[in-house]
Amino acid sequence: MSGTGQPVLEARGVVMRFGGLTALSGFDLTLHSGELVGLIGPNGAGKTTAFNALTGVYAPTEGDVEVAGRRVNGMRPHQICELGVARTFQNVRLFKELSAFDNVRIACHAGSRSGFTSAWMLTPTHDAEERRIAARAEEFLSVMELSPRRDELARNLPYGEQRRLEIARALATGPKVLCLDEPAAGMNASEKVALLELIRRVRDQFQLAILVIEHDMRLVMGVSERMLVLDHGVTIAQGAPEAVRQDPKVIEAYLGDGKLRLRPPREAGTGVP
Ligand SMILES: Nc1ncnc2c1ncn2[C@@H]1O[C@H](COP(=O)(O)OP(=O)(O)OP(=O)(O)O)[C@@H](O)[C@H]1O
Ligand SMILES: [Mg+2]
Repeated sequence: MSGTGQPVLEARGVVMRFGGLTALSGFDLTLHSGELVGLIGPNGAGKTTAFNALTGVYAPTEGDVEVAGRRVNGMRPHQICELGVARTFQNVRLFKELSAFDNVRIACHAGSRSGFTSAWMLTPTHDAEERRIAARAEEFLSVMELSPRRDELARNLPYGEQRRLEIARALATGPKVLCLDEPAAGMNASEKVALLELIRRVRDQFQLAILVIEHDMRLVMGVSERMLVLDHGVTIAQGAPEAVRQDPKVIEAYLGDGKLRLRPPREAGTGVP
């Protein structure tokens, strides 16, 4: 059940400073298995910075991050990934010259038990492990509705399918927590709705905790049980979507002086190293 037991991810008082700029301040987050939380806020609000601090891209300037009760401050991204936190990036990151299947297969290797010696000797253990990994890769392609595109080079996939392939790769590392940075960016409205519904089904199937950044507040409200709103690095509201939407601070952050501060969909973003 969500909301009880030990959190899978917890951030307490996380601060990220870049020189004189405080990109994130006093960031608190508690995530339990099975929760889908929307992280929203205008451009430059600190959303990607929060992901970077949670996943080890940056060590927090202050505060603590814990994964299943274990403090991970200062750990490398691959170590935090091994503990069960996977992410996608605002800009698609794939092995563009490899097939969809190989992209996922490589990610599956992160959780593989097959060691270097068995790989080198091509032992029966290694063969069995390779078959197990291939089957898992097929499964994650299927979950993300990419099986028909299995042998296509990643660079030839339409943008929306590249985004789904990134999520398949993240799932292949066997996470407990999945952090998705604008997974629906650059998609049209109906593609966005379909993707967010798919993300919700993935959450249900794997009982993951999912933290999803999305600019369109109405869209993410439809699939999240809880929302967290950042503005200028500060959490200005959090809670049930409907209450958050009506919060005067959120309306102000989104509308400011009457002009929409949201940008049109784009591929590139700030804060991605
Ligand atoms: N590595 C960095 N060095 C210096 N400043 C940074 C760095 N990363 C992020 N920032 C700054 O921190 C602030 C928050 O950026 P961040 O990318 O987290 O915002 P965001 O909410 O993800 O915005 P967007 O919606 O545009 O993706 C911005 O002012 C950004 O320029
Ligand atoms: Mg961002």
